[in-house]
Amino acid sequence: MPLSGRWTLTRYLIEERRRFPGASGDFNALILDVALACKAIARIVAFGTLADTVGATLPNGMGGEVNVQGEVQKPLDVLSNEIFVRMNEWNGHLAGLASEEMEAPRQIPASYPRGKYLLVFDPLDGSSNIDVNVSVGSIFSILRAPQEVIDSGRDVTEADFLQPGAAQVAAGYAIYGPTTMLVLSVGNGVAGFTLNPNLGEFVLSRADIRVPEQTQEFAINSSNSRFWEPPVKRYVDECLAGKTGPRGKDFNMRWIASMVAEAHRILMRGGVFMYPRDTKDPAKPGRLRLLYEANPIGFVMEQAGGRASTGRQPILGVKPGALHQRIGVVFGSKAEVERIERYHHEPPPSEAPAPLFAPRSLFRD
Ligand code: AHG
Ligand code: MN
Ligand code: MN
Repeated sequence: MPLSGRWTLTRYLIEERRRFPGASGDFNALILDVALACKAIARIVAFGTLADTVGATLPNGMGGEVNVQGEVQKPLDVLSNEIFVRMNEWNGHLAGLASEEMEAPRQIPASYPRGKYLLVFDPLDGSSNIDVNVSVGSIFSILRAPQEVIDSGRDVTEADFLQPGAAQVAAGYAIYGPTTMLVLSVGNGVAGFTLNPNLGEFVLSRADIRVPEQTQEFAINSSNSRFWEPPVKRYVDECLAGKTGPRGKDFNMRWIASMVAEAHRILMRGGVFMYPRDTKDPAKPGRLRLLYEANPIGFVMEQAGGRASTGRQPILGVKPGALHQRIGVVFGSKAEVERIERYHHEPPPSEAPAPLFAPRSLFRD
């Protein structure tokens, strides 16, 4: 039984590995390097704008470029990306890396051995919140490289990364808030580790995290409401109607603009998060990215007994078409996500065979 407050991340990983007597230890070593990258980013984030004057220097001219998403990169986006790459490319466990901040996959330099995993990451999620001192985080996903890549040791291509989220070997995130936490799933539930700044170690603080089933909280950027599809509008309207509406209870709304922080809140106390597909920009089927935002957070949610969906189908079943593909995202407490999926599959209430099955009928659930 894992001991909160006593087990380090290293111990947790070793105890998990004992379930697989044949495991080489590569995977554990990789997770520890990912965790080290997160610790390095946590330190730099903590210095804020003092980073330049205390030696946690930002290389000259870093940031200000437009990334592949058409978004202006902040210096810390670029630096966090470099930290992830530098701390993971040398260890011989990876066949390649891909990130929000790099247009194409990054090859392992010829001077280092190549391994069997692929690391995909959003080095700094919610980076618009950096300037206002609100929680940000890093999100990571670990996939197995195709066998032929492992055998040949060839360079990786975009296609090697286009695996559905269900194929993830592990996924998680670090959140840089009042405390730094690492939340991880290696496919056997979800565990949370708090950084003990005295030891510089992640220490288990939440064993077996489960998404609470009952919720009265939802998160959505309602400034987009005029672009929402009818099922999303229906769900939100019903929440807003509160006690006197079809849900029969009042809801609270939250919007942090750091998905990682929203995901963390939902893991701790339930709720639902939506950045659904909308009609704002036909070129963008959603705001969030499938491979390094939706898939890893989706994996963690499902491993914690919650659910992650596009609104129409489980996120983890989607076969990616491109490295930087965007997608509609709904995740959190299982019953709420299922309700939203049901609304996507049902005709809108106005077209339904009312009144017997209308939302306020005898047969509502
Ligand atoms: P990133 O900082 O990696 O680009 O991601 C930001 C994402 C996500 O964290 C957040 O939920 C969403 O963008 C915020 O969107 P709005 O600007 O619409 O609030
Ligand atoms: Mn992000
Ligand atoms: Mn980012």
